[in-house]
Amino acid sequence: MNKQAITNYDLKHIGELSVSSSQVLDAVRTKLLEPEPRKLAPSFSSAHLATLLDLDRRRINQLASSESNDLPEGEIPDGSNARHFTLAETLAYVQKFNPRPKRPAGQRGRIICTTVFKGGTGKTTSSFCIAQGLTLRGARKVLLLDADPQGTLTQLAGFAPDVDIDDESTVMPYLYGDQPDLRYAVKKTYWENLDLIPANISLYGADFYLPARYSKDRSYKFWAAMHSGLMDLAQDYDAIIIDCPPSLNYLTFNMIFSADGIIMPIPPNSVDFASSTQFWRLVYQMFEGILGSTAEGGEKPSLDDIPAVRDKTFDFISVVPSRVKAKEMSTLITGWMAKAFGEHLTTISIPESAAVDNFSFGLMTVYDQTKAIGSNAAFRKYKDRMDELVDHVDLQLIRAWGQDWEMDNE
Ligand SMILES: Nc1ncnc2c1ncn2[C@@H]1O[C@H](COP(=O)(O)OP(=O)(O)OP(=O)(O)O)[C@@H](O)[C@H]1O
Ligand SMILES: [Mg+2]
Repeated sequence: MNKQAITNYDLKHIGELSVSSSQVLDAVRTKLLEPEPRKLAPSFSSAHLATLLDLDRRRINQLASSESNDLPEGEIPDGSNARHFTLAETLAYVQKFNPRPKRPAGQRGRIICTTVFKGGTGKTTSSFCIAQGLTLRGARKVLLLDADPQGTLTQLAGFAPDVDIDDESTVMPYLYGDQPDLRYAVKKTYWENLDLIPANISLYGADFYLPARYSKDRSYKFWAAMHSGLMDLAQDYDAIIIDCPPSLNYLTFNMIFSADGIIMPIPPNSVDFASSTQFWRLVYQMFEGILGSTAEGGEKPSLDDIPAVRDKTFDFISVVPSRVKAKEMSTLITGWMAKAFGEHLTTISIPESAAVDNFSFGLMTVYDQTKAIGSNAAFRKYKDRMDELVDHVDLQLIRAWGQDWEMDNE
């Protein structure tokens, strides 16, 4: 019998593989995302705008054609009899008619982390949709921070992490102490009122730098390296949404330490549920570890503006069943999740949806689409749940600002 030859792959081979695979990725991406700019915001018909504002469509047309207000007229494209509005124009209407309380003067925006250490649970999709939805449904100004070296959020925002983003435009220079604040890293995106601090592979450096610096200088607060930068930016935004990688690394822990709220999307299956319980244990152990091994455990007051670890609180922690399949099993495990997370488990669950496959191929989300691709019912069902998640987060912002407000769907 012929023995099959065993091939050994050396480092040179790995190098070649890395070059050939990124060349293919570049070619695919250029084809998919041409022309520049890579992403364009959708335009909204008067019917769509009417739904968004909960106004009659005729009222929109009246407002748009009236000379006595400063609202945008929109445009009636050739071959259409409906008025269309750009995203900027749409947001002008949203700003004017949105009844939700605004952020009071003197209050900062809230910092929200999407995190769990299991991969593929819908963290990035939720982060991006929540940010887009907050601008559209709550008239908010939002900053997205990509804390994942994979840079998926950066891609959804229209940038290719390995081509468009150099290391100097990520959080890393701030983390290394080479920049006084995070403002250098903020980029405008194709979506109005939605800015981005992008990521690329250089973020892996945080896991070497932070422990190494701490081992040399025991007074260095490796868990609070992002804190002042984030608090400073929070003055300019209603919300900062941080998309974390599927791991509890040093950078993620920094984001959790600075966060006011946590969104944890978990698919109701036993593996993801188990992983989510481990996540909480690990977060707790990390906080405990800091308290045990530093002066923070004792009575010594903090000398800087960084809050003491023992005083850390969160405004909200929301566990969101995500990618929920229409199977009995999901219901059973959602029951376990309710027992495990109690009040933190939201009643909103995001379905696993073929609608997502239809648009995520072009790096789109449900808010990039104003019409269904594929089944209208599947699109509607998914979008309605995502709207509810956005409203849930908006409500947390409103509450954190000490305002009184009831959401229709809460
Ligand atoms: N509700 C959904 N239905 C179907 N597919 C989904 C849904 N949500 C996300 N996806 C798809 O699943 C994949 C993973 O989603 P996403 O990137 O949001 O997860 P993640 O938790 O951020 O992953 P990672 O852990 O790698 O960061 C993507 O291809 C996305 O389009
Ligand atoms: Mg992700």
